[in-house]
Amino acid sequence: MPLSPISPTGPVLAIETSCDETAAAILAPDGTILAQTVLSQRDHLPYGGVVPEIAARAHLHFLPGLVADVLREAGIGLPDLGAIAATVGPGLIGGLIVGSSFAKGFAIATPQAPFLAINHLEAHALTARLPHLGGGEVKFPYLLLLLSGGHCQCVAVEGIGQYRRLGATIDDAVGEAFDKTAKMLGLGWPGGPFIEKLAKSGDPTTFPLPRPLLGRAGCDFSFSGLKTAVAQTISRLGPAITAQNRADIAASFQASVCAVLADRAQHALEMMPTASRLVAGGGVAANTPIRAALTAVAARQNLPFSAPPPNLCGDNAVMIAWAAIERLRINHPTEGIESAPRPRFPLDQLS
Ligand code: KG4
Ligand code: ZN
Repeated sequence: MPLSPISPTGPVLAIETSCDETAAAILAPDGTILAQTVLSQRDHLPYGGVVPEIAARAHLHFLPGLVADVLREAGIGLPDLGAIAATVGPGLIGGLIVGSSFAKGFAIATPQAPFLAINHLEAHALTARLPHLGGGEVKFPYLLLLLSGGHCQCVAVEGIGQYRRLGATIDDAVGEAFDKTAKMLGLGWPGGPFIEKLAKSGDPTTFPLPRPLLGRAGCDFSFSGLKTAVAQTISRLGPAITAQNRADIAASFQASVCAVLADRAQHALEMMPTASRLVAGGGVAANTPIRAALTAVAARQNLPFSAPPPNLCGDNAVMIAWAAIERLRINHPTEGIESAPRPRFPLDQLS
């Protein structure tokens, strides 16, 4: 695609602070990653979940150092930058204020580099289109399964800024279900990677768990019943619960999630006959059995499946820079320096 007059004339610096990852990255205008860093805050561990006030303070503490690191690693000075992007929502308001204010300050100090206000969900939605990931170019339209700690939805991605939500969770997000199940099993946080690891030594058939909404019309999700079933199984076993019991529960939970996601993805593909591909994004898309289940669903419809490499599934700043580049390349920038942080910022509010 020919570059438009406002394509970034230099590398794009991006900042992500919407939850508990403090992240910065620099991408060349063609999407090449020049430097990136993600700091997963550990201060929340004793609480078993993100504490918004602690997260905001930690972003403030770590961000200046991380930005200096990526600039140094990329060998870039402020006058070289072509644009500066930051997440403005959705997310925790404290973190959004810290990250976007910091980025706006940088943009004021570098007049040649405009500020771009990026929607976090749009960034997850477009990550699979990053060049140089292997697997070929991901073209529109495609069906996106956005699977993260805060979101679980099926989205028809027709183009940049053109998103149609086909279905979503009616209670917990899938990542939240992983995290809560891990907590009940006494595992670490965030729980997804711990469950995935433990499930490898478990038998998914020992404690059969429900598969909510399986086979139902549409492509909504529900995970609260599954979570309750895990709690009941653990309480039935009582203090006699063994390490093998825990592994079997983890395996059964993950098998239920895989079956439900596959079923919902299949329904969503039927609702979007124009889809050229199935794409997954968000932290839970790093899960290997889930990727395999979605690959099989897509293959049944003769469609390819794509997901970013595991380190770009969870929150990161590469995806924020890439979303900015995608927008600039088609001369369709986002809101600029006047934008306000938005804790709620649904994809369909974008254009
Ligand atoms: O996209 P993300 O980093 O943050 C949000 O925007 O929410 O997703 C975080 C979620 C957490 O719930 C975490 O447990 C889950 O992604 N997650 C996983 C795996 N890695 C991270 N869930 C299942 N399997 C994994 N390997
Ligand atoms: Zn996210």
